[in-house]
Amino acid sequence: MASAGKLIVMILMIMAAISSYKVSGDPDLLQDICVADLTSGPKVNGFVCKTNISDADFFFAGLAKPGLTNNTNGAVVTAANVEKIPGLNTLGVSLSRIDYAPGGLNPPHTHPRATEIVFVLEGELDVGFITTANVLISKHITKGEIFTFPRGLVHFQKNNGKVPASVIAAFNSQLPGTQSIATTLFAATPAVPDNVLTKAFQIGTKEVDKIKSKFAPKK
Ligand SMILES: *[C@@H]1O[C@H](CO)[C@@H](O)[C@H](O)[C@H]1NC(C)=O
Ligand SMILES: *[C@@H]1O[C@H](CO)[C@@H](O)[C@H](O)[C@H]1NC(C)=O
Repeated sequence: MASAGKLIVMILMIMAAISSYKVSGDPDLLQDICVADLTSGPKVNGFVCKTNISDADFFFAGLAKPGLTNNTNGAVVTAANVEKIPGLNTLGVSLSRIDYAPGGLNPPHTHPRATEIVFVLEGELDVGFITTANVLISKHITKGEIFTFPRGLVHFQKNNGKVPASVIAAFNSQLPGTQSIATTLFAATPAVPDNVLTKAFQIGTKEVDKIKSKFAPKK
């Protein structure tokens, strides 16, 4: 029985240690709801609450159908975040649907404010993230399976299958934010200086300019 007692004490200590950390992506609530006034000029850490609310503020049908994947990457992210669902303001969660044509890629990117967990609706994907120790953690996932991308780490999904694929992605943030590595570095405004990119990637100015031209906003 002494060892059972020790085990309980250990479990309590671990729980106390966990709860003393901030584990969620977004801050805790200070009220039941705070439906975003997306039109408000002043911003707080999130959006100002509006008083005139309705069921529509908590509803979104935009993930019901596949998004169009006829773009350069052959993949499209449809977000269901606080910008689409004002009722999510301060609630610390959101979803996306991602659709992939055969060969489609959701290119390497990070979410500064959220961990992501994806559930495969259709098809199959090769997915992965890279740790800060520069280790690639990757897996082939298929319909009904789940994979997790820890907050802030660079990750990607590629459809190497012969049919379209789709996932539902959940985030522990109302607005996870996305930094796509290639566009962040090669299509920022104003541009990241060539001499930063030539040295960082150990390539010449011509190669930098070539990459920049591919990511330039289409006119
Ligand atoms: C509240 O919202 C409804 C529906 O959008 C609108 O008709 C009404 O004018 C709004 N009331 C106020 C006080 O903003
Ligand atoms: C993708 O397809 C849609 C619908 O067929 C079309 O309206 C749109 O212009 C296409 N986009 C591109 C980038 O080809």
